[in-house]
Amino acid sequence: MERVIRKVAVIGSGVMGASIAAHLANVGISSLLLDVCPKELTEQERQKGWSLEDKEVRNRLAKQAIERLKKTKPAPLYTNDFVNRIRPGNIDDDLEKVKEVDWVIEVIVENVQVKQQFFERLEQAWQEGTIVSSNTSGVSINEMIKERSISFQSHFIGTHFFNPPRYMKLLEIIPGEHTKQEIVKKMVQFGENQLGKGVVIAKDTPNFIANRIGTYGLLVTLQEMNEYELSIEEVDAVTGPAMGRPKSATFRTLDLVGIDTFTQVANNVYEKVEDEAEKSVFAPSKLLLKLVEKGWIGEKAGKGFYEKVRTGSGKEI
Ligand code: NAI
Repeated sequence: MERVIRKVAVIGSGVMGASIAAHLANVGISSLLLDVCPKELTEQERQKGWSLEDKEVRNRLAKQAIERLKKTKPAPLYTNDFVNRIRPGNIDDDLEKVKEVDWVIEVIVENVQVKQQFFERLEQAWQEGTIVSSNTSGVSINEMIKERSISFQSHFIGTHFFNPPRYMKLLEIIPGEHTKQEIVKKMVQFGENQLGKGVVIAKDTPNFIANRIGTYGLLVTLQEMNEYELSIEEVDAVTGPAMGRPKSATFRTLDLVGIDTFTQVANNVYEKVEDEAEKSVFAPSKLLLKLVEKGWIGEKAGKGFYEKVRTGSGKEI
């Protein structure tokens, strides 16, 4: 009998992982939301007498992703009560629990080595029949599991959601060299019928389709705004609703995505393409690297191109 996707493990509880878990909760699917346990506590946490040796504390830290979800705008959840469908945890204590799920989606940092290490680790916990996917923005699906005959390679596929997952219709599905046709078909049907997405099948090329174009557009805008002496606000005004695009437009989009993540995503293409003209657009941007160095990486850090601090009520101050 065909296995139905009822339970999911979302690995990585950052900007995208938490919001994907929320979107799954919106359509009635429960998930485990696992991240790495921080290596050390903050000064404030230490003052409270917390210790990372204590499992209660580790659980409390994992729950912070859930608290952030409730405050995020635009809301990732139809109703905050749906957070009960998400069980937070950390990889070290809870990886074995992926044995209970039908689909594991990897949503960790955009770094091929870190992703490879996770898939190697997942191998011990993987159960026959479980689908495994990556939400990468543009790292090669084949490269993530290459040169190792990972047992789940026939069940491995790219499932690229767009930010914010509750609102963005597009879902890119990227089959790998070894992905079984029935898995491709199943994820297309699941994406369209259960998750309400518009699915596009993409080839395993750097940044796939939408990000190859979107990242290019953003980087050219960054390069050309100097020539036209435009400010950040002016660029957002011209590239926003005036062009029929959402309010977030250029720089607000970069703050929403995360400037660290965007820099990595641009690098995906820079490292792989040979065409000089294209390479020069995707070359590391000094401005973006400077912001990353300062830690001004966007909304997740409370500061990016725009300074924005969210209060508990979701109000911006
Ligand atoms: P993020 O930086 O907000 O979150 C990444 C999370 O991964 C962090 O919570 C981090 O602690 C965790 N992590 C790091 N190493 C880990 C490990 N070994 N095991 C488990 N968790 C680990 O990044 P974001 O934005 O959520 O991106 C995640 C993935 O989704 C990336 O591949 C990115 O390219 C992709 N993506 C991002 C979009 C965006 O708008 N930010 C849109 C679509 C895809």
